[in-house]
Amino acid sequence: MGKVLGIFSAPGGVGKTTLAANLAWLFRESDYRVLLIDLDPSISLSWLVVKEQFHLIDYESKGRTITEIIRKIFDEEKEVDYKDYLISRGYPSPQDLELDLLMPDLKLTEVIDNLWINRPKRELIIDKVIRDLGLRDEYDLVIIDTIPFFDRKYTVMLIYAADRLLVPLRPTIIDVYRTQTILRSLPKASALSSDEIYSNIGLVFNMVRTTKQKESIPKYKDLMMTKLGNQLRFFDSSIGYYVSFSRIGTEEEVKGDRNTVKEKLRGLFEELREWI
Ligand SMILES: Nc1ncnc2c1ncn2[C@@H]1O[C@H](COP(=O)(O)OP(=O)(O)OP(=O)(O)O)[C@@H](O)[C@H]1O
Ligand SMILES: [Mg+2]
Repeated sequence: MGKVLGIFSAPGGVGKTTLAANLAWLFRESDYRVLLIDLDPSISLSWLVVKEQFHLIDYESKGRTITEIIRKIFDEEKEVDYKDYLISRGYPSPQDLELDLLMPDLKLTEVIDNLWINRPKRELIIDKVIRDLGLRDEYDLVIIDTIPFFDRKYTVMLIYAADRLLVPLRPTIIDVYRTQTILRSLPKASALSSDEIYSNIGLVFNMVRTTKQKESIPKYKDLMMTKLGNQLRFFDSSIGYYVSFSRIGTEEEVKGDRNTVKEKLRGLFEELREWI
């Protein structure tokens, strides 16, 4: 039975999308069957994986999207074969092993907003999609990327859908403060107990740039555990600052440095493999 790993965060820009793609790559190279689900209407993850913009527009206009899957399941109550919607691309470059992807479109927000108003058990929307499509039978690992918590619907749906939740944050006071505040609000927002939620969360410090930042991590961990209890899990490995693959940007960013990316993520990847 495959596992679902959800990625969410309190502040934006902490590296969720980059982690989703690069972790998928590492798991794929270790022979896991991996599916990426992009639940951010800004299609950052899909763009990173697909790269050609006109292909993204084409898929979107043809309704080859997770939005359409959700609409079919809930509005039309139809059976859906996810393979009709799947996009597969070599990542990080077209010559690499293919990653499977379900991409969103601009209507995702509207479709989710409507279901959120009208549906009982709305927190189970994504969970139902994963079950109805049989994704845990087809994949060893499903990685879901979302938008930050400012629209809490996505985080709540993710908590119900995922077996494990990866929460990146930067080693800064503001990220620690905001992440802590959001984690405290999750039991009320999701109607689950803090035990149920926190026992599935793993926090990882990302973009650790300076020695001073690295040294401040134990202090931040203590601070958060004092506020939230020590069932909170922090990965031992943090992620340094590095140039990853990017959809736009400098040539250096587009190419990335495969060895650097692997080296920076190796620790987290090994810990995740054990934990998942
Ligand atoms: N460890 C890292 N070191 C340096 N830069 C990084 C690192 N991880 C991600 N980045 C860069 O930071 C930027 C934001 O990353 P990303 O888009 O993955 O964040 P996000 O959490 O998905 O953002 P959003 O909340 O907008 O969805 C990107 O330019 C990405 O290349
Ligand atoms: Mg993102």
